[in-house]
Amino acid sequence: MKPIEQVIIENNTSIKPVWFMRQAGRYLPEFRNIRLKNKDFIKLCLNADLVPEITLQPLKRFEIDAAIIFSDILMIPYAIGQPVRFQKDFGPILGSLDNVKNNDLTEHKFINKLNPVYKAISKTTISLKGKNKSLIGFVGAPWTILVYMINKQSPKKELSKSLSNEKVKLDLLKIILNYTKIHIREQIKHGADLIQIFDSWAGLASNGDIKKYIYESTTELVEFTKSLNVPVICFPREIKNYREYVDVVRPSVVNIDYNVNIKEILKQISIPIQGGLDPKYLLDDTDILRSESLKILNMFKDHPYIFNLGHGVLPQTDPNMVEYLVNLVKDY
Ligand code: CP3
Repeated sequence: MKPIEQVIIENNTSIKPVWFMRQAGRYLPEFRNIRLKNKDFIKLCLNADLVPEITLQPLKRFEIDAAIIFSDILMIPYAIGQPVRFQKDFGPILGSLDNVKNNDLTEHKFINKLNPVYKAISKTTISLKGKNKSLIGFVGAPWTILVYMINKQSPKKELSKSLSNEKVKLDLLKIILNYTKIHIREQIKHGADLIQIFDSWAGLASNGDIKKYIYESTTELVEFTKSLNVPVICFPREIKNYREYVDVVRPSVVNIDYNVNIKEILKQISIPIQGGLDPKYLLDDTDILRSESLKILNMFKDHPYIFNLGHGVLPQTDPNMVEYLVNLVKDY
């Protein structure tokens, strides 16, 4: 069994596998070279030759235990008919919802649109054969996708007024849930060993929104993924109550953000935990990185744990720092 699955399925506490959220991309010069020649990010995510190459780039450099497929959570809004583009130094910009509301999308058309993603997953599994590495597929959690679709860009500290229109939200939620399930199923069908659900904006949900838009909808995806016999990692970034989230949603693994008090969370949560290290330590010197990482590893000594960050690798990270960290975890 692959190391990450050993931690999840056997509750193994003697190995500490490692991979990083956003490990493929922005901070790697070999990615930036490809990106320079591929100005349209969505098109790049639909390039069935380049996606496996980018997915495998971090594994060529580091002894990490997983590959995460190079894609984006916003491929769902794109595939259901909302224009999505990425502007340099700004982030994603989404367009009108008109096409989503009154379109004639079918499951078949949706799968066709994302077919290069699935082809890329199949190709990646071939390269990973016999290497003992997990291939992670992923989706955005319905709440975070809803936030992007309605807010049309990354939210600042608060949400746009239109996110208070209950009818708009509920109608979109249904569509998002339906197609997210299909996307999960297809990623698994083509070879994903695990699914991670990114709820990057969970911390912005009001108490009123948490139940329906986070708990109920994510539980549905977790149950669906588990029914396909695949473990599911949830990352409800900055959610107010991780213990309650785990009790209600029941993921196989929970990824904690870097504001979580690890000593406290260890008393509250018994399922395997992933993540926690503040990605900014990868920008400091190796002494600080070493002591902060060892602190975390020591706290998780007797708990099933997958080493990862409390959010994605930052674009300005030096790949040598990532290499230093991977070796530190491997030698632990
Ligand atoms: O290595 C990996 O983790 C796999 C690839 C991956 C990307 N996006 C590639 C990407 C994954 C897992 C994501 C998830 C994602 N996308 C999230 C959840 C994780 C998180 O960071 O909170 C979110 C919120 C998005 C939406 C998104 N995509 C934003 C806000 C941006 C712009 C800012 C940024 O992060 O760069 C993107 C673009 C994006 N997605 C890039 C990459 C490599 C940068 C594209 C570029 O080169 O311009």
